[in-house]
Amino acid sequence: MTSPKGGAARGAIRDLRMGRATKKAPVRKGGKNPLRAGLRIDKVPDPHTVVLFGATGDLAHRKVVPAIYHLWAGGLMPEHFALVCFGRRELSDEQMRSDLRASLELHARTQPINEERWDAFAERISYVKGAFDDAASYARLADRLKEIDATGGTSGNRLYYLATPASSFPEIIRGLGAAGLDHETADSGWRRVVIEKPFGHDLDSAVRLNREVGKVFRESQVYRIDHYLGKETVRNILIFRFGNLIFEPLWSNVYIDHVQITVAESIGVESRGAFYEETGALRDILQNHLLQLLTLVAMEPPSTLDAEALRDEKVKILRAVKPLSAERISDSVVRGQYGPGWVGAQESAGYRSEATVDAASETETFVAARLEIDDWRWSGVPFYLRAGKRLPKRATEIAIQFKNVPQRLFNQVGDEPEPNLLVIRIQPDEGILLRFAAKVPGLGVDVRPVNMDFAYGSTFTVDSPDAYETLILDALLGDASLFTRADEVEAAWGIVDPIMDAWVNGSEPEFPNYAAGTWGPDAADQLLTREGRRWRRL
Ligand code: BG6
Repeated sequence: MTSPKGGAARGAIRDLRMGRATKKAPVRKGGKNPLRAGLRIDKVPDPHTVVLFGATGDLAHRKVVPAIYHLWAGGLMPEHFALVCFGRRELSDEQMRSDLRASLELHARTQPINEERWDAFAERISYVKGAFDDAASYARLADRLKEIDATGGTSGNRLYYLATPASSFPEIIRGLGAAGLDHETADSGWRRVVIEKPFGHDLDSAVRLNREVGKVFRESQVYRIDHYLGKETVRNILIFRFGNLIFEPLWSNVYIDHVQITVAESIGVESRGAFYEETGALRDILQNHLLQLLTLVAMEPPSTLDAEALRDEKVKILRAVKPLSAERISDSVVRGQYGPGWVGAQESAGYRSEATVDAASETETFVAARLEIDDWRWSGVPFYLRAGKRLPKRATEIAIQFKNVPQRLFNQVGDEPEPNLLVIRIQPDEGILLRFAAKVPGLGVDVRPVNMDFAYGSTFTVDSPDAYETLILDALLGDASLFTRADEVEAAWGIVDPIMDAWVNGSEPEFPNYAAGTWGPDAADQLLTREGRRWRRL
């Protein structure tokens, strides 16, 4: 285990903790910092403190802190930065740092850890023990933050990051509000809050949570995370659609037959059985990641890339999704749960045998839905969405299936061409593929589909940042375009709520109904085959 080394570092940590002024490192302007050479991001966030709630939890250790560390190590954070970890456990600053260091060794995107940057990072980490429902804990936190502002040059700017179970969100928001930690005045610095998913567990709870948040923070201070929006390939959807002239004229019901969006995972529920029992695939993936991908594919061009303009267009799409009546749900939505099977060469237990899962669980680990968007561009084009655990492989992609050519020209002489297909591969093997018809060389007229394939890996030689790096940096810069707005989350729940109601009020599902390592229940295939279509083989 490595801990911050060197007398100077220890001295600075001690001074920070004791509220003494430390010698400030000179603030470097963007272009001058050698770590920033070659970066096209010209803004470094203002000096600030990140307050991490749930700092001892899995998400903080796997995702949030590695992302902050990478931003720091990559020269994207200001010198005057502090990370205050808030948690229930009895921990010293030193223990918190060494726990985080151990996690970085497991989860940081680039290894080994840069010792020099880590030392400077570790100096900026401290721990506050507290309970989420205890006013005295917030008072202690407020004192610590004041002290850090006074000695660490963090200027009162604060990002509160809620990486806790969702059940704690309301009490943390209330606690911050009661302690006045949300207040932004002309000279207080900015105050922002990042809220992890799940944001509510149905429409009603999401509305209530938005109301609680709204009592304390203004909407412009709130950053709701859907980490899919931070993925490089997801961000590229807008560039692909609106940065190229040739696709947009084809992007409608005139040329597109249907759209398939798949989020397939080969993993099961791992150690998250208890969480998953409350959630299921519909809430865990469809309500957020899948619907977000749908909005990006279907939205109209926004007038600017400004957060409000962008989110206005996404909300319009969610509101235009045709509501599923109770009768249509059984035809349009399929749920499944995996039983025992094999994923590749690995034998897998069924979901009901996973740790902390009810042996008679009715939670779905697979969902597929057929949605329609009732607007001029998309009317009549089905969007087939599916997500599942313990499927044969990990693959997220969007497939845009174009219509057949209108005239059957070739059937006299050979095969009919297959319709064009455009596939946006989100992960892994990130890229974009366009399939079109070509003549096979030879004396006859043989038509075959061929692919034009763009692969990120071989085209760009740089590693993509992790989604969390992108999102945290954006929140620190005050750019909410990759975060979901209150009305957007509610509109997404509005689509999912009737499905949950129908399931609760309907008959018991016959689970398990697919073997681990297969592509879900047969009914998911029938959703397409009865309309003369089929899922793309991934
Ligand atoms: C999370 C879900 O939001 O996304 C998990 O809660 C899921 O169940 C994960 O495994 C998938 O994310 P990614 O980035 O691995 O596709």
